[in-house]
Amino acid sequence: MVDNKFYKKAAGYWANVPATVDGVLGGYGHISDIDINASKAFLEKVFAFNNPPEAKLAIDCGAGIGRISKYLLIPQFDKVDLVEQDEKFISSAKQFIGEDNDKLGTLYQIGLQDFVFEPHKKYDVIWCQWVLGHLNDYHLIYFLRRCISALAKNGVIVIKENVTTTEEMEYDEDDSSVTRPVSRMKMIFSESNLKILHTEIQNDFPEDIYPVHSFALTPVT
Ligand SMILES: C[S@@+](CC[C@H](N)C(=O)[O-])C[C@H]1O[C@@H](n2cnc3c(N)ncnc32)[C@H](O)[C@@H]1O
Repeated sequence: MVDNKFYKKAAGYWANVPATVDGVLGGYGHISDIDINASKAFLEKVFAFNNPPEAKLAIDCGAGIGRISKYLLIPQFDKVDLVEQDEKFISSAKQFIGEDNDKLGTLYQIGLQDFVFEPHKKYDVIWCQWVLGHLNDYHLIYFLRRCISALAKNGVIVIKENVTTTEEMEYDEDDSSVTRPVSRMKMIFSESNLKILHTEIQNDFPEDIYPVHSFALTPVT
């Protein structure tokens, strides 16, 4: 289990955030629909690839209360697993999605830096959004390498994250996260043995927040 200040501080921050859409979006709950609609269009493009993934099993990494699972992944996939480290968010996710929803798979309560995929499960899509700034570069590369081993045939990793407008990495003291420039994200993808199949910049978000980039990634063969 990774034990350091960067991770403990982030866990402490999220433990004090209300389990609502507005809470997990840092007071920007009103942009959730715009985000989800753009992600739906992005996922449609992924399913239109020459060798598309199937729509059997997805996993929502850093799932919060299950906003992405509920509105984006569950409507598209047969089963959706969630990984989230905060206990309160995990139990809220069960209610928010509905424990009786038979598309709701396993909920793993653990940090992504420590998460190890179950060897018998292979994912068509591994969705990581607004969470990877909580991993340092080293743990992120190892997490992405584990993701590669957990992909089904034609499986795709989708990363949707804030990026800086400069070439500098920026540290947020409040939630203990980093925001990376696109160049650093690309360096991390290449270190992880991933290549970009498709990328987009989110439109129609408020001007006072970081630009948000989406990447569909596949292993370099
Ligand atoms: C900005 S919220 C985004 C939640 C969700 N992805 C969404 O878009 O609705 C960040 C989430 O990442 C979780 N988180 C923070 N550090 C994490 C870590 N090391 N491993 C897994 N989840 C983490 C937080 O508890 C929180 O639920």
